[in-house]
Amino acid sequence: MNYRHGYHAGNFADVVKHVALVAILTHLKKKDAAFAVIDSHAGRGLYDLAGEAARKTGEAANGIGRLRGLVPPLPPALAAYLELAGEGPYPGSPLIAARLLRPQDRLVAIEKHAQEAAALRDVLAPWRKASVEEADGYARLPKLLPPPQRRGGILMDPPFEAPDEFARLAAAVRAAHRRFANGIYLIWYPVKAPAEAQGFVGEVLAGCSGPALTIEIAIDAPEGRLSRAGLLVLNPPYGFAEEMAAVLARLEPALAARTRLEQRAE
Ligand SMILES: C[S@@+](CC[C@H](N)C(=O)[O-])C[C@H]1O[C@@H](n2cnc3c(N)ncnc32)[C@H](O)[C@@H]1O
Repeated sequence: MNYRHGYHAGNFADVVKHVALVAILTHLKKKDAAFAVIDSHAGRGLYDLAGEAARKTGEAANGIGRLRGLVPPLPPALAAYLELAGEGPYPGSPLIAARLLRPQDRLVAIEKHAQEAAALRDVLAPWRKASVEEADGYARLPKLLPPPQRRGGILMDPPFEAPDEFARLAAAVRAAHRRFANGIYLIWYPVKAPAEAQGFVGEVLAGCSGPALTIEIAIDAPEGRLSRAGLLVLNPPYGFAEEMAAVLARLEPALAARTRLEQRAE
């Protein structure tokens, strides 16, 4: 394993992904009925932004580090994200979810790599509603679907280390959607070659009916670093597109970013 999220935690792409996650979970909490969150590629859950990895890339400084001075009023999801992530060690997606869930809700966080899974277990130990599985997220996810609660969100955020990761991810999303068509799916992807990213989105959308949207964000990054990333959201909650448009309008100047949001209504 080469990929370590500690080098990238809190960067521009993490910021957008995590605000979207907060918006989705906030929506799910509007009803009393319990819901499930499944994080198929969860990471270690907490990242020291003052540590060597984060300082080496400087990515967090150009992401969350640029947001601390944002002046209210902020869109609610952005304000809630900053409350969770604005100070101290940076929370990864499973910790953000654990902090937002109610006693009746459940989180399953899947992480393949032993060290990361062990660290995540420690981070999530205080939350009885959260469990960590050391497993291959692609193999494990379909076995967890549909969740007993029959409502919930699925985050798929692989490291894109393997050359066939787009193909594997597209197949996994389609298979998951067949088992749980009503779930809200939040899928992260890098945009290194735009045609490849577009092909991935097209392949997923062709296999998954229903409303969907994509968000892309681009920054001017140093040579060799990721400068553009996307989110594909299947079954986005009511009002999500409008809220994310307001979030992006605040993030653009703060991160010196360009963004794009496109919807498919069905
Ligand atoms: C981009 S990071 C996850 C970041 C996390 N979702 C967040 O937002 O805080 C991807 C993680 O997936 C893990 N991973 C790699 N291959 C995996 C697989 N097949 N199944 C589950 N986890 C995997 C990596 O060890 C890494 O921790």
